[in-house]
Amino acid sequence: MARFEGKIAIVTGAGGGIGSAIAKRLASDGAFVVVSDMNGDSASTVVAEIEASGGQATAIVADIANGEPCRELIAKVIEQKGRVDILANNAGINRRGNIQAISEDDWRLSFAVNIDSMFHLCKAVIPHMIEAGGGAIVNIASQWGLYPAPNHIAYNVTKAAVASFTQNLGRDYAPHKIRVNAVCPGEIHTPMLEAGVRRSGRTIADLDKLVPFGRIGKPEEVAALVAFLASDEAEFMCGSLVEITGAQAVA
Ligand SMILES: NC(=O)c1ccc[n+]([C@@H]2O[C@H](COP(=O)([O-])OP(=O)(O)OC[C@H]3O[C@@H](n4cnc5c(N)ncnc54)[C@H](O)[C@@H]3O)[C@@H](O)[C@H]2O)c1
Repeated sequence: MARFEGKIAIVTGAGGGIGSAIAKRLASDGAFVVVSDMNGDSASTVVAEIEASGGQATAIVADIANGEPCRELIAKVIEQKGRVDILANNAGINRRGNIQAISEDDWRLSFAVNIDSMFHLCKAVIPHMIEAGGGAIVNIASQWGLYPAPNHIAYNVTKAAVASFTQNLGRDYAPHKIRVNAVCPGEIHTPMLEAGVRRSGRTIADLDKLVPFGRIGKPEEVAALVAFLASDEAEFMCGSLVEITGAQAVA
């Protein structure tokens, strides 16, 4: 039997690079996946791809930068499926710049999308997980939340908040068998990374050379780690921050 057979999973930002890989991986491992994104077209494309390979999924469009859409997303899934076993908090944005370069709007939006959304979604889902006897939450943080890269203050600070949020929630809800963990990726080849590479005038090959393993990461590699953390094999992991970096240090 597939390891997530009968499980209901929600993935946010599931139309993007890492999110779509997580959604596909959970579906190929048997979960029914709610593919949520603010971009309805990309969410529908991911659902079609999952269904074409024999998996089960549905798209729910939600802009999670505000509390109400987050609460509605959880309520809709509970109404349609009756439970949420896995929540992968993946949606995120990367507004670049040091404190002088970043605008107050971008600072606030970074907090709204990268960390406040996790507060709202977890607050809404946890009572249902407690009622069901447990659940798994996997947050996508970043290596840069642990060791800040230069000139990304809003991104780094929000990802540091994701790391602390994960440790706090992991501690508070372990007694309820709700396991909350985070992955902290280094550089992964996605549309978000490509936007940064274009802006800096570098190439992916330039980035590959900086990684001791010889290349930057693939979304599927992060998805495999998320699936492990969401699975019963990771039963004793609560509040952990797991780096996936190809041994690259932040310079
Ligand atoms: N790519 C990397 O190198 C890297 C490294 C470390 C961490 N991460 C993290 O991984 C996660 C996914 O990043 P990615 O590289 O796949 O980026 P991406 O830009 O490819 O995907 C992000 C997705 O989030 C969605 N999104 C953005 N704002 C949203 C909102 N307000 N409501 C709903 N959806 C929204 C976008 O529509 C997009 O589909 C992010 O949290 C990112 O910070 C990425």
